[in-house]
Amino acid sequence: MNQPQHQINGLAHVAIVVADLERAIEFYQNTLGLHVSHREQQHARGLDIAFIPIGETYIELIAPMHDQSEVSRFLDKRGGGLHHLAFEVQDATMSYQYLHEKGVQMASKGVEPGAHGCAVAFVHPKSTGGTLIEISQPPQAR
Ligand code: CO
Repeated sequence: MNQPQHQINGLAHVAIVVADLERAIEFYQNTLGLHVSHREQQHARGLDIAFIPIGETYIELIAPMHDQSEVSRFLDKRGGGLHHLAFEVQDATMSYQYLHEKGVQMASKGVEPGAHGCAVAFVHPKSTGGTLIEISQPPQAR
């Protein structure tokens, strides 16, 4: 394996914020015919999450567990909808350093544990033209 460096390998997921996770799952499963493959609750962030495989990637449905969650303000302001894109990277720490050195504004102070056992960090929408971008290193990388 090469030395770790900044490299994007694919679209890890498209994240959508919803007010009611059970209702959203019902729509994605019963109406669209997709299937939830993984659920998890991130208590530190106040998030209830469901992953739905679609082609080579996933839809990540995110609902708040309470009104102080990381998505509560977004939900209040926008009424839910597309929240972020997650790019799968080879090495989240290397990508974080690379982007930081390029002067890109990061929305995270560093790489943190994310859903699915991934190591993640967020790039601020101010640096991307308006879209929150997650860089995500899957646990099996390297
Ligand atoms: Co995500």
